Amino acid sequence: MDKIIVEGGDPLKGEVTISGSKNAALPILSACLLTGGWHTLDNIPKLKDIWTIKEILSNLGVVFEENNQSLKVNTDNLNSHIAPYKLVKTMRASILVLGPLLSRLGKAKISLPGGCAIGARPIDLHLKGLSLMGADINLAHGYVVANADKLRGADIFFDISTVTGTENLMMAAVKADGVTTLHNAAKEPEVIDLANMLKTMGARINGAGTDTVTITGVKELHPVKYTIIPDRIEVGTFLIAAAITKGEITIKGCNENHIEAIMEKLLETGTEIKKEGEVLIVIGHDKIKSVDIKTMQFPGFPTDMQAQFMSLMSIADGWSIIRETIFENRFMHVSELRRMGADIEINGGQALVRGKTNLSGAQVMATDLRASASLVLAGLVAKGRTEISRVYHLDRGYQDLDLKLSLLGSKIWREKQ
Ligand code: EPZ
Repeated sequence: MDKIIVEGGDPLKGEVTISGSKNAALPILSACLLTGGWHTLDNIPKLKDIWTIKEILSNLGVVFEENNQSLKVNTDNLNSHIAPYKLVKTMRASILVLGPLLSRLGKAKISLPGGCAIGARPIDLHLKGLSLMGADINLAHGYVVANADKLRGADIFFDISTVTGTENLMMAAVKADGVTTLHNAAKEPEVIDLANMLKTMGARINGAGTDTVTITGVKELHPVKYTIIPDRIEVGTFLIAAAITKGEITIKGCNENHIEAIMEKLLETGTEIKKEGEVLIVIGHDKIKSVDIKTMQFPGFPTDMQAQFMSLMSIADGWSIIRETIFENRFMHVSELRRMGADIEINGGQALVRGKTNLSGAQVMATDLRASASLVLAGLVAKGRTEISRVYHLDRGYQDLDLKLSLLGSKIWREKQ
């Protein structure tokens, strides 16, 4: 296992290009299962979760060819319908192959993802929707065993707006008999990107990005060439990296419509963000104002940016309240930030962050993907050396974060644990 070492104190300078969105690439790769032929996907990020979904798809008979930035995907010969525990246990998003497999093969056997560090994260809403579409769903020996001769359109209401639930059912519906309406659907940009890819394949989808999505089943789909959107959470992470180090960086390849809530909150802290043509320029200042946040579904402040924002608030000029409303246990980073001197008090789903002048470097441990990013950000500004262990969490969702930060002037490197 690797660890990351950071010597804090250097303001970041220079420019960084954002990689493709992990949370758009995962459903889009799964959607390739819906039809045979060769797909070409561009801007797929190179990170652990993408490797995992490719392993799961290869297990099903999918063939990949990489040439420079493009990933070619052949789905002609599916020879299995099983996603095994050994792979699914490492990534919950593996459940995204359930809808496409049911549509293409009429059967699927997917290991139940199990919980994860940030919460129980059940899939009951995925399964309820598929049952309403005529699938026969059984849970046995830790697996979801699903069968459906022909999925049929249904009216589905999500008790809770679920991103991958919306994506799974959208994929199940594109070749179902009749019309499917998803009520209280997730509106994240990654849902819209999947819908755009499916429409390019010939699907009929209206309302993606709103809370009511209507899918009219079609007989056939065809393979596509498609480019994935940039990763809005990586953009947010670099915006905070500039703010926390009081640096000035240029961020290339981002879509500011995806990060309005993040930008709004950063502007409130006194951070400067300017748009020049296709790039964003972000300038951090000495005085960082304390700002309250509450995580919400899109277009609200994203839960995937909560930990990173908490690192910034740890050195702000007052007290801020951070409320986490999406996951029940997404404060795992707090105890590690406290080891670096942060003054944070947790009370149920909210954290009170008493900002202070500085943090000090320490040995800390990553617990989940975004928590590890928050520890890197804290290390950029902490006095002295921070050593972050278990960085495999970070590598699941960021492509070369430490390399990109070192190119921006940070003293950051990897060592074998
Ligand atoms: C997606 O997870 C993202 N992952 C997460 O990003 C992100 O944090 C989350 O959406 C919220 O925005 C991918 O897109 C691959 P949900 P997902 O279903 O779809 C409850 C990252 O760091 N729920 O929208 O699993 C659930 O427990 C990751 O990149 C049910 O109760 O999240 C949660 O409280 C972390 N039953 C809430 O809904 C269900 O059937 C929202 O979860 C489904 C969800």
